[in-house]
Amino acid sequence: MEFDQAVTQLATLVETLERDGDERALLLLALVDDVHRPGIEQIVAGEFERPEALALRSMYGLAPVDQTTEAEEALDEIRPYIESHGGALELVEVRDGVVSVRMTGSCNGCAASAMTLRRGIEEKLRERLDWFEEVVALEPEPQDDDGSLPLLQIQQVPKPAASNGAADSQLLQIGKLKKPVFVDVGRLDELPPGTSKAVDVDGNSVLILNIDDEPYAFANVCPAAGGRLPLEGARLTDGVLVCPWHNCAYDARSGKRVDDEPGEPALAVLPIAVRDGVLKVAANAS
Ligand code: FES
Repeated sequence: MEFDQAVTQLATLVETLERDGDERALLLLALVDDVHRPGIEQIVAGEFERPEALALRSMYGLAPVDQTTEAEEALDEIRPYIESHGGALELVEVRDGVVSVRMTGSCNGCAASAMTLRRGIEEKLRERLDWFEEVVALEPEPQDDDGSLPLLQIQQVPKPAASNGAADSQLLQIGKLKKPVFVDVGRLDELPPGTSKAVDVDGNSVLILNIDDEPYAFANVCPAAGGRLPLEGARLTDGVLVCPWHNCAYDARSGKRVDDEPGEPALAVLPIAVRDGVLKVAANAS
């Protein structure tokens, strides 16, 4: 509608409302005036940055958007993905084109989180912000121990050299080297090759896999994010197990990392056997 036409119609409407004594409509008009007038007076006086003037300009999309707000809006586009993986993304600071962020939640301490930051977040910021130069991932802030424990506490210790001369091999030690107690966890032919599933073994969650009809078992926990997130749902392809949370990749037989972080902790391997087609896993951790 043309400006002049709108002014005429508004004047007519106000006249009608006043004549009819429509109190709610008149209150609405008074409030609109109260909200607009101080800002308009400041703008007329050239005081564009005063709070009311800024608020009024923002209402009509006429205020410059600051870089922090722009960065927050860009990060909002990638937050749902991070949150769907149990993490959270905090914007810490924007300065001279450098956006400093911090990953928290399940991403805290996960080496793959850093990769997520470098790739996904940087890509999004570069796409959205023409002033963007660099993203900096800050270290997670130290947190109080929340008392949460890994699903299974397993320790690997060197095998004594005297036992059979294989000094470099590793022995899985559970608690005080208790004799493994094997527990039935179903039949091998119920776990098709190339698949995995989580099973409960005396209260411990264990991930069992079938690779070419050879079964393997690991504690159902990814060590990458402080050992708090389950591996269940990991993709198993060509002997590689990829964690569903942040895509850390492990050798599905040895449990060792096979991505670009080879020094990071391996999966905890558990003894597994097949007897008469029945899978048996030992996970006695205490
Ligand atoms: S929890 Fe981050 S890759 Fe597994």
